[in-house]
Amino acid sequence: MSQVHLIDHPLVQHKLTLMRRKEASTNSFRRMLGELSTLMAYEITRDFPLQDLEIETPMEKMVGKVIDGKKLALVSILRAGNGFLDGMLNVVPGARIGHIGLYRDPETLQPVEYYFKMPDNMGERDVIVVDPMLATGNSAAAAVQQLKDKCAPKSIKFMCLLAAPEGIKTMQAAHPDVDIYTAAVDRQLNDHGYILPGLGDAGDRIFGTK
Ligand code: URA
Repeated sequence: MSQVHLIDHPLVQHKLTLMRRKEASTNSFRRMLGELSTLMAYEITRDFPLQDLEIETPMEKMVGKVIDGKKLALVSILRAGNGFLDGMLNVVPGARIGHIGLYRDPETLQPVEYYFKMPDNMGERDVIVVDPMLATGNSAAAAVQQLKDKCAPKSIKFMCLLAAPEGIKTMQAAHPDVDIYTAAVDRQLNDHGYILPGLGDAGDRIFGTK
């Protein structure tokens, strides 16, 4: 069974509370999401493997440790996932970026892919799939399945801002190998699949579309 990692750093919790407020403007929501993404990327990369690198300080030669950021791919689930990217790239500027677009078929209610674009050599990369809201978990589970089927990455982690218990259950059942990193686990979904208490529609709040 995959693990749920709650990122409970005080700075993360503080910014998340400010973002949830309905009065938060598009501008401040976006800015805080950027800051939060940087802080969350710091936590999610905590166990990344380090390599030796021989360098020379002004004093002498030494062997330091570095992450091979180029082996990392961030995969955004469109469109709200894009709100995570800039902040995460502050921490891992060499990461490659992929995008997956899915919509929900109104009849079957199942996610249908409309866009899939990945960097090359995905089989050699560690992947972090990002989407701010893990609600029903159907899109996230479908996106991870497409990724596994088409690219078979070395490893996959999933990062969101808020998770509903329903979404966690769906993801853990479909992908027991994919750990979930979130800033909060909220109470439940409403009848329209929105997270309660949540923060509303993440895409609309990031892009100012409502
Ligand atoms: N997507 C959102 O943007 N918000 C929710 O609450 C659920 C899914």
